[in-house]
Amino acid sequence: MPLDIVIGAQWGDEGKGRVTDLLAREAALVARFSGGDNAGHTVAVDGETFKLHLIPSGIIHAGVTCLVGNGAVLNPAVFIREIEGLAKRGIDVSPHRLKIDRRTHLITPVHKALDQARESQRGDKAIGTTLRGIGPAYAEKIGRSGLRAGLLDKPEELAEAVHDHVSTHNEILTRVYGAEPIDAEKIAAEFAHFGQRLAPHLADGSVLIDEFLKEGRPVLAEGAQGTMLDIDHGTYPFVTSSSPTIGGVLTGLGVGAIQVDKVWGVAKAFSSRVGGGPFTTELDGEDALRLRGTGKNPWDEYGTTTGRPRRVGWLDLVILSHAVRINGFTELCVTKLDILSGIPEIPVCIAYDTDGQRLNYPPADLSTLANCQPIYKALPGWEEDIRECRTIDELPENAQAYIAFIESFLNVPIRLVSVGPERDQVVTV
Ligand code: GDP
Ligand code: IMO
Ligand code: MG
Repeated sequence: MPLDIVIGAQWGDEGKGRVTDLLAREAALVARFSGGDNAGHTVAVDGETFKLHLIPSGIIHAGVTCLVGNGAVLNPAVFIREIEGLAKRGIDVSPHRLKIDRRTHLITPVHKALDQARESQRGDKAIGTTLRGIGPAYAEKIGRSGLRAGLLDKPEELAEAVHDHVSTHNEILTRVYGAEPIDAEKIAAEFAHFGQRLAPHLADGSVLIDEFLKEGRPVLAEGAQGTMLDIDHGTYPFVTSSSPTIGGVLTGLGVGAIQVDKVWGVAKAFSSRVGGGPFTTELDGEDALRLRGTGKNPWDEYGTTTGRPRRVGWLDLVILSHAVRINGFTELCVTKLDILSGIPEIPVCIAYDTDGQRLNYPPADLSTLANCQPIYKALPGWEEDIRECRTIDELPENAQAYIAFIESFLNVPIRLVSVGPERDQVVTV
């Protein structure tokens, strides 16, 4: 493991947090390279549950350094709340082990207000964003007018930048969207406080990673969101505003491709998505309820960040093939296999049909994708509760066959299969 990478292969919520937690045992540094607090990563350790939004999941392992990389966007208010929540639970979140890259862009209340205003304006074409200001913050980064974390230890520059930022956008908020203006003085005062609080965490992420790699200390890049939410390769415009795929790792951390060792793709044993956009294998009714759960269990399919019920459907191997091609996964991890216990026959989508034409990749155009029908292969299910299985041989034969089918279809080795949310509920292949 010089630099290993964890990437979501579907629409997010694949279980990247728990996989990162498993792999972080071997890591010296864990870094987030994209996204912001739209992410919600759940890690269950000895019955205790940690829900992380911005801070890398490696934080739960004492001795692991954590970095919010330059490709991420950081809301300082949320970050401080998360630090405080973890500190109360006895986790060391001191600046010597929790770093923020100086190039990371900041999310402000203006970005949240713009996210809300744009979503309202879209009406029934709304993306269903998390309303965390992610899109507006990235738009401003690309537009070269963003605020970067490096300002946090420069009080005068920070105050001026915040004033300019708020007054420019107040014009847009009030005139274009008819929204309330934001109080620049109040935000400047808040950011001055955030600056004092967070300045000791600032670092140059690329230099830090380089030091670790040169000393032979393993680095793990933790993805947020998933391949189908990628700004380029996902179901645009029903995507997030960053690159959660492999390219985003290199630009989002400032590392060279030569450093990369393993690229882990994380996929749920079925599919889920939150928010709008096409979803070819989507289910409703009883079938959906069975995969989603009622919300009683912590692992049921309700958003970690927004609490929204997730849309669910059968496994889509067309999507996973797309994710394998784009990211070059060298290993796969399949999560939540336990949820499929008790389903007599499990359909798996192996191709799409669009007006009589068979496709083995998701078409780029949204209207064509929305018109695709899934072509299923039905695989035999299993009755047994598999949550206590720890080796592949202990899994029922049909569960082994389900895993083997995915592996041979995608031609990527499946190294981990999780059968419950707890750290030890995993089958290592
Ligand atoms: P992430 O955003 O990719 O980190 O995934 P989330 O944490 O948002 O969602 C995954 C959910 O599934 C969390 O509640 C996890 O605790 C849970 N989970 C992960 N792996 C398993 C598993 O193998 N079985 C079950 N039942 N739950 C799992
Ligand atoms: P993790 O890291 C699932 C979805 C939102 C919405 C779209 C755009 O936990 O897998 P945004 O707020 O990013 O502008 O919303 O992307 N989305 C996620 N869905 N898991 C996530 O993160 C997500 N982050 C964003 O629901 O459809
Ligand atoms: Mg999540």
